[in-house]
Amino acid sequence: MSTKPFIMDHPLIQHKLTLVRDKHTGSKEFRELISEIATLMCYEATRDLPLTEVEIETPVAVAKTKVLSGRKLAFVPILRAGMGMLDGVMQLVPAAKVGHIGLYRDPETCEPVEYYCKLPSDIAERDVIVIDPMLATGGSAIDAIKMIKQRGVTSIKFMCIIAAPEGLAALTAAHPDVKVYCAALDDHLNDHKYIVPGLGDAGDRIYGTK
Ligand code: PRP
Ligand code: URA
Repeated sequence: MSTKPFIMDHPLIQHKLTLVRDKHTGSKEFRELISEIATLMCYEATRDLPLTEVEIETPVAVAKTKVLSGRKLAFVPILRAGMGMLDGVMQLVPAAKVGHIGLYRDPETCEPVEYYCKLPSDIAERDVIVIDPMLATGGSAIDAIKMIKQRGVTSIKFMCIIAAPEGLAALTAAHPDVKVYCAALDDHLNDHKYIVPGLGDAGDRIYGTK
């Protein structure tokens, strides 16, 4: 599996990303944009879903056409900020199941701290897409994916909006089998392990907590 991220440079995604980066964008618009970007990214991240041919009758004739086949999907947002992407992806795959993993970065160490994990009982039989707007040090994504793998899942993608090179390197080293999708690969992390230029604290901007 390639360790390069799939960078989604579609003009609509890039335009919306500029708006979410802007510090003058308020919580309501920020939430809407994160959800819209997630929908557009999900469209691309599901491009390789397998199809099978079926025969149906249109009002005019019998037609051979295609439907999704293979394993069903589950989305796993990393709380809190990952929840901001959930509605957007569920719009495209409304039948997907949803698991939740709660992790926060300790403000001193920037290490992830687990506080919640509830995954669908049949998750091992599903393709899983983990969603979180930010991949900074990679600690949260690495731990979340470890928790999902412990439940027997073998097919995992990670979808974030902004990735830092440091987080991407750590994630691909820890989980080389996981394909990473992002809308932008930014420059670096600052001393507080925030992505530069980034968009600030995604959770705080979604929920207006700062
Ligand atoms: C943010 C973000 C990721 C994590 C990324 O969450 O949503 O989960 O930081 O950082 P990392 O790659 O260095 O682990 P945060 O811990 O701020 O929690 P929140 O979503 O509840 O605000
Ligand atoms: N978490 C965020 O929300 N933003 C960053 O830049 C890094 C971690």
